[in-house]
Amino acid sequence: TRVGIGRAHGKAILLGEHAVVYGAPALAIPVPQLAATATATRRTDPGDSADRVSFAVSGSGGTSATPFGSADLEELVSVFKERTAVTERMSVNVLIDSAVPRGAGLGSSAACARAAVLALADLFDRRLDARAVFDLVQVSETLAHGRASGIDALAAGATSALYFRDGAARELPIAVADYAATNSRRWTSASDVHRPWGFDGIFVIADSGVAGNTKDAVELLRDRFQRAPQELDAFVRQVSSLTIGALYDLGRGRVADFGERLTENHRLLREIGISTGQIDSMVDAALAAGGLGAKVSGGGLGGCMIALAADLASAGAVAERLRTAGATRSWLVPVGRFATH
Ligand code: MEV
Repeated sequence: TRVGIGRAHGKAILLGEHAVVYGAPALAIPVPQLAATATATRRTDPGDSADRVSFAVSGSGGTSATPFGSADLEELVSVFKERTAVTERMSVNVLIDSAVPRGAGLGSSAACARAAVLALADLFDRRLDARAVFDLVQVSETLAHGRASGIDALAAGATSALYFRDGAARELPIAVADYAATNSRRWTSASDVHRPWGFDGIFVIADSGVAGNTKDAVELLRDRFQRAPQELDAFVRQVSSLTIGALYDLGRGRVADFGERLTENHRLLREIGISTGQIDSMVDAALAAGGLGAKVSGGGLGGCMIALAADLASAGAVAERLRTAGATRSWLVPVGRFATH
């Protein structure tokens, strides 16, 4: 039997989450160690002519009957058929093995959707261009998030840091190391790190252990901003200027300045109610341990925070302090800057 395979990965938002839904720019990095692999196989069940596509997720990121929440999947399948000109009945099982934790703000729904779309395209021998993949992932992201900017859908397939604005992403010359470190004891030694690009910094992502729901967070803000439009204007303006400043810092290797903008973005997110007490303590802990900056990352209301460390020793110290502050797990994402743009 033919098997279709699709791969994607999780992401972390560096700056601009939530504001990006209202047109602000945002910065994100792929997290290669949080992989999602989808396998699609045809079912042989006879019977009626209706499409039957089932999705299930298992793996260290969590198990669920579908990666798309309880949302109706008929739309995804019908848009898939329309975009790929598949006319035959689709009777397919899609199994997604995902290491992206759910409800952590790390883009698990987009990673699963992207892997699933690619697996279906592979099974039916269809070549999808980048735009078609994005549109299809967005169908399920919109079902999952209510309102989705598209940043997760693009970051789930990116191989370097990206700058996102108005539905389009630009990949930046900031390489993300494919370095899977999960054991804090190993982080204090620089010798076992593969450094192909000459890193400028190491992002430490830590899970608060409390699941946050991005859809709830997006709705909470929509209600809040409907009542106070002037608050929305200020939020979008302030976050935009931080993100544009951070892009400038990245280009010039100003790691410390970039860190300060992270912490400032956290303050703005906390003010509008997207952080939690637990995440605030983790942000404080990361800064106290020598982190250059720290903030809640992604949808918020729980989930993950992200800190920036100057080097590996510092990243190890930050990660260790975060464990003490209640982080249930953490990941390191070293990033590097190319010499020329
Ligand atoms: C989720 O990773 C980022 C949000 O800004 C939602 C979105 O952009 O779709 C919270």
